[in-house]
Amino acid sequence: MALYSEKVMDHFQHPRNVGVIDNADGVGEVGNPKCGDIMKIYLKIENDIIVDVKFETFGCGSAIASSSMATEMIKGQPISQALTLTNKAVAEALDGLPAHKLHCSVLAEEAIKKALKDYYDKNGIAYDPAIFPACEDCEHCDHGA
Ligand code: FES
Repeated sequence: MALYSEKVMDHFQHPRNVGVIDNADGVGEVGNPKCGDIMKIYLKIENDIIVDVKFETFGCGSAIASSSMATEMIKGQPISQALTLTNKAVAEALDGLPAHKLHCSVLAEEAIKKALKDYYDKNGIAYDPAIFPACEDCEHCDHGA
């Protein structure tokens, strides 16, 4: 079996939603201190719906494919739906990632959550902080050590 699924290769070679949204309603940037990869997500939100989403990812092919797939999965969806997106769902939608590349899909989940948190914060919308994991909770992150 090939290391990467056809879907991973497709989204890596033809990533969807690459770019920047000027005056985005929410922006989330996360990095993985171990591999040095960085992912930035931009959201345009109207009436609780994610009407547009773009990403910039400086990272490996799996991180790019994960960003591309994750943005496709939340585009046009309500915020409540985007908040439930897990890295597992992203990896499954890509027909799997090799075990040592699963952390790349974690970046996508975290960047989206961070962008949604930014949207809430900017608009003074109250939320339960528990829905946004604290940095210390990230399993893959060794806090720069
Ligand atoms: Fe770091 Fe893929 S190797 S995100």
